[in-house]
Amino acid sequence: MENANFFLNKDILCEAEVKYLTKEEDQRQRSFNGLSAKEWASLSKNVWNDLSSPRNKYQIEHGAVFPVKLAERLIRMYSREEDAVYDPFLGIGSTLVAAQNLQRHCIGTELNPRFTKIAQKWANENSNLFSQNKFHYKIINDDCRNLSKYIRENKIQLTVTSPPYADFIQKSVEDRKNTHKTSLIKHQNNSTVKQYSDHSDDFGNLPYNKFLIEIEEILKLNYNVTKKGGYSVWVVKDYRDTKNKIPYIPFHSDLAQVGKKAGWKYHDLIIWDQTGQRKLVLLGYPSVLYTNQNCSFIVTFRKT
Ligand SMILES: C[S@@+](CC[C@H](N)C(=O)[O-])C[C@H]1O[C@@H](n2cnc3c(N)ncnc32)[C@H](O)[C@@H]1O
Repeated sequence: MENANFFLNKDILCEAEVKYLTKEEDQRQRSFNGLSAKEWASLSKNVWNDLSSPRNKYQIEHGAVFPVKLAERLIRMYSREEDAVYDPFLGIGSTLVAAQNLQRHCIGTELNPRFTKIAQKWANENSNLFSQNKFHYKIINDDCRNLSKYIRENKIQLTVTSPPYADFIQKSVEDRKNTHKTSLIKHQNNSTVKQYSDHSDDFGNLPYNKFLIEIEEILKLNYNVTKKGGYSVWVVKDYRDTKNKIPYIPFHSDLAQVGKKAGWKYHDLIIWDQTGQRKLVLLGYPSVLYTNQNCSFIVTFRKT
């Protein structure tokens, strides 16, 4: 009896040495990305239509950015806290801002000095003292083909990026000057696309065939800097080249082909449905019916 009272006295109880985890905490510890089974399931939809968000001044200035929410979702799916994320075509830094928000390290390359400066400004505004001290964020104003100068092999867990779509933007801008009601290209009617630069290294100034060759090269370099088991995720659109009478250019599947040639395993495909953000326009009426291209494709590769 005396013994029982002795142990009931809280002051002399030892702190429990074993920390008992809840089921969710245990799941988070076991999963490669730190997600519980419930979070994992909720992030496994393959059609996304809930990413629309108001654009800030930096996003409007660039004109062809993806939402931070999109990068955040991909980062949560394919990496865990303290992993390193890379964006070869950083733009104004949506991927980096998302990485800051989720406690990942991040490095990005961007050719255009104007966008690089904006990215730095946005990142500074978004950073907090905690992330400044604990995480590395690097924005490099250079051609992504030089990425091996900045990143060592097998360091990156996840790449999230959206490249220019060859010289399609130039064609689109040019065509829009002369748009008429049945123009096929008018499908981009409420976007604010503009040419990124007239720099010869800008992927947005390359004809499609040359562009695919260069994308394959980037994917090879990207493969080398990625850790085994890591991912590379590309947000792209298919499009039409009406000037050259090509009704459909399946960029997402061409990308999958060059990705495989570069050594990657084609891992997944997500449809980003943007129907809600774009008006339907009449294409080819009355002789040939074309659909409105109102979705993007999120092509995921994995280094196995
Ligand atoms: C579709 S935008 C990316 C936007 C970015 N996802 C964002 O949300 O800010 C493509 C970017 O690639 C950049 N770019 C084009 N050629 C490049 C190259 N060779 N190396 C690095 N960046 C390049 C362009 O200047 C442009 O900002």
